[in-house]
Amino acid sequence: MKSQINVVVLAAGLGTRMKSKRAKVLHRAGGLSLIEHVVAASSAIAPADHVTVVVGHQADQVRALLAPSGVRFVEQREQKGTGHALLACRESLAEPSLVKSGFVVVLYGDCPLLAPETLAELVRRQTSGKAAATLITTRLDDPTGYGRIILGEHGEVRAIVEQKAATREQLAIPIINSGIYCFQADLLWRHLLEIRPDNPAHEYYLTDIVEILNRAGHSVAAMEVENPTELLGINTRVELAEVDRIFRERKVRELMLAGVTIEKPETVTIDAGVRIGADSIVEPFAQILGDTTIGEESRIGACAILRDSTLAAKVEIAPFTHIVDSKIETGAHIGPYARLRGGARIGSNARIGNFVELKNTRFGAGAKANHLAYLGDAEIGENTNIGAGTITCNYDGANKHPTRIGKDTFVGSNSTLVAPLDIGDASYIGAGSVITDPVPAEALALGRARQVIKEGWAAKRKKKKK
Ligand code: UD1
Ligand code: CA
Repeated sequence: MKSQINVVVLAAGLGTRMKSKRAKVLHRAGGLSLIEHVVAASSAIAPADHVTVVVGHQADQVRALLAPSGVRFVEQREQKGTGHALLACRESLAEPSLVKSGFVVVLYGDCPLLAPETLAELVRRQTSGKAAATLITTRLDDPTGYGRIILGEHGEVRAIVEQKAATREQLAIPIINSGIYCFQADLLWRHLLEIRPDNPAHEYYLTDIVEILNRAGHSVAAMEVENPTELLGINTRVELAEVDRIFRERKVRELMLAGVTIEKPETVTIDAGVRIGADSIVEPFAQILGDTTIGEESRIGACAILRDSTLAAKVEIAPFTHIVDSKIETGAHIGPYARLRGGARIGSNARIGNFVELKNTRFGAGAKANHLAYLGDAEIGENTNIGAGTITCNYDGANKHPTRIGKDTFVGSNSTLVAPLDIGDASYIGAGSVITDPVPAEALALGRARQVIKEGWAAKRKKKKK
């Protein structure tokens, strides 16, 4: 029978050193909040209903954020330390049926770079060995702030000493506690109650469990990892920025190795879930965020921002363009300085130029809106040309209305299209028109005052003034 593994993620603390009103685990790095990264890593070793998140500060927000993942929650009302936080789970996890052959993995919610493979290796070591617990350690050039590991003669862990309680000699130890542990469930729950808040901070330190287990005649093993990067815990905003940079670096590296050109990669922000096809080019300072997919041989211009959007192959996004919740077909050219939002759909080889905004609009294949237009709640047919300055008046102050423009139509510059409105295929709208009534296919619609010429008017005016 496979041993049962329960994961507990501690996420109740405020994170005083962040100097923030927001709970630390809600701060973001690499496009996700810290706690989302940790919960994602835990899925390598346990299904979501075996993951318990201990919440406290801003518990409602943390719950709301993680609820879709299916994890469980336990509340720690007062934050009296990491040992106290784990104790909050005792009732729900210490059922005899779970405990017998089970293991408990403890993770801290402020350690977001942890790799799933490392967690899986920790569990493999603990479940195949005899120790009461195994914990992940590493060596740091600057171990300041972390708990130090006191090793015994055979490499076993004798104790963890927190920074605040350590002697000078102990502070010189470079081996640190990552805060990632795997315990034999029965021993953990039996001895956890023995932790006392007898330290300067009057907190219940989970790290004291190591000495307690040793005293009871059990051993604790260390799993030292060579690359300390993935164990970085975040306590301050300086560390938050550093971890964010590491996430970004990982992502652009992965994309470059997969055939994407990224110019000045240190300036580019690409979220972990983004997919980009080979031979695409990303220019400096572009931001590609959320659930975005880009096909092959596309180009994302400098300073463009794309979020939750899908681009086919050979799409060109010129600089400073802003695209959210939109879909763009092959060969389309968007920008510079264009804005697409609210479910805009751009057909293949269409062109959207500078200072054109599209909201909830289907823009047909080969159609063009090259300058200065607003198209909202509209459907525009294939190969139609939208002149500069065209506005769909989709809002009457209370409700939104649709505009439908057929294919091969020519909308003259500065047209005002008052919705709801239907404009037929292959029709023409004269420049400067205000169009309020339907336009049949192949018709010419003019909705403007006729021009008046008054010959010699200027001279007459001059005379009058004398
Ligand atoms: C902790 C470890 C330290 C280790 C370091 C690794 C202890 C006593 N110390 O120190 O040995 O080197 O992590 O990053 O465990 N939390 C709660 N409830 C509480 C207190 C904390 O849920 O009452 C949560 C926090 O939200 C956070 C995590 O536990 O996600 C760690 O707490 P933190 O205060 O950051 O511990 P460190 O001082 O970093
Ligand atoms: Ca920490």
